[in-house]
Amino acid sequence: MDDHVAALRAPAGTHDVLWPESARWERLVAEFAQRAQLAGFGLVLNPMFEDAQLFRRGIGDESDVVRKEMYEFADRGGREVALRPEGTASVVRAFVQHHPPVPWKAWYVTPAFRYERPQAGRFKQHHQLGVEVLGTDDPDVDVEVITLAADLYAWLGLRRVELALNSMGCGDCRAVYVAALLAYLEEHASELCDEHRERYRANPLRVLDCKRPQCRAVTEGAPRITDYLDEACAAHLARVRQGLDQLGVAHRLEPRLVRGLDYYTRTTFEFAATSLTSAQNAVGGGGRYDGLAEAIGGPPSPGIGFGIGIERLLLACDAEGVFAPEPPRPDAFVVDVTGGSAARALCAELRRAGLGAVRAYDGRSLKAQLKQADRSGARYALIVGAEELAGDIVTARPLRHEGPQVAVPRASVVDWLAARSTTETKEDQ
Ligand code: HAM
Repeated sequence: MDDHVAALRAPAGTHDVLWPESARWERLVAEFAQRAQLAGFGLVLNPMFEDAQLFRRGIGDESDVVRKEMYEFADRGGREVALRPEGTASVVRAFVQHHPPVPWKAWYVTPAFRYERPQAGRFKQHHQLGVEVLGTDDPDVDVEVITLAADLYAWLGLRRVELALNSMGCGDCRAVYVAALLAYLEEHASELCDEHRERYRANPLRVLDCKRPQCRAVTEGAPRITDYLDEACAAHLARVRQGLDQLGVAHRLEPRLVRGLDYYTRTTFEFAATSLTSAQNAVGGGGRYDGLAEAIGGPPSPGIGFGIGIERLLLACDAEGVFAPEPPRPDAFVVDVTGGSAARALCAELRRAGLGAVRAYDGRSLKAQLKQADRSGARYALIVGAEELAGDIVTARPLRHEGPQVAVPRASVVDWLAARSTTETKEDQ
């Protein structure tokens, strides 16, 4: 029998996020949460899987996400379920199910699953930070939502993120536009890429989103949706643009922007990181979906939101050299060469007082422990040897700044460190 067991690996297109990289995720999510809360959003938690019908009806049978990318399966009870490929449909389903008072402003952080061929910036499991607002079609909400995302990119220090904006119109004016687009595509059908030559009739708008050169060439000359907006939709778009201008959110009108999900109406937008050379450079996107609640069986309720891909956002940060992972900075590394119980007690006391304390295990030598202390990023090594034990003191040695080591009475070491921790945190920054 072969006794070699191959080590298992995470599936292709998924990632383990290890510490200290995960500390960067924590900082990002905490910042986003705070900004969302300041703007009146509350956290919503949804299941990771839903009835597959929710996504088919919500995102659209003809979208790539539903046609090619959904993780769908029958569970052991024979129910057709799907892992959530995005956040919006579940949030809107929860809104319809629980009918909270409007306007309902929800934020979330969630994994999303899409069966795509993994490549730079495109994964089978990614994570999104997002918001959704339900119950109002006020263009001020569009401005607020877009600004929330734009301000987060700015806070991160990103300078090379561009905002493209469009309007998909309402059901009425979009129908007129789609008819014009279809007529145009009929004339140019033979020039389209293989996939869209077959499928353009099912959803002509998809062709505008196709990145293949053949489709790109055809759609250059296609009718533009912004020329077909009715009065109310054109006024809505104008108000959104005016609001963005007022708040200093730079944007470009992009009439070919259709986005990959079929629920959008009126405002749509995408943030592209031009620092990323890969085709997958969208670090966030969203828009209005005024018909989505109704499409999944709820009352008509307009809505708008966005999703920001965390992995891609951090790739953009790396490309611009901002928001770098920070090394850990415990307050103390406790070195104990008297058997370990001094370290056990001192670490517990420090932690109970809200100070960061780490230590070595396994009865390592003084030299090995001091080396570990140096690498730990701690401010002080708090050393307990035989002499310290006998004298009821701790030797405090600074690790991150020049200075003499000092003997601190054991009974006051927590207060001693706490006093230095608050003053030196400011100096460190
Ligand atoms: P989306 O554009 O499909 O929109 O995804 C939002 C963001 O998630 C993208 O801009 C990108 O940063 C990231 N993302 C998407 N797919 C992948 C992938 N395979 N690998 C890595 N990152 C990815 C939505 O999902 C909508 N729910 C956004 C929305 C909210 N619209 C209205 N409300």
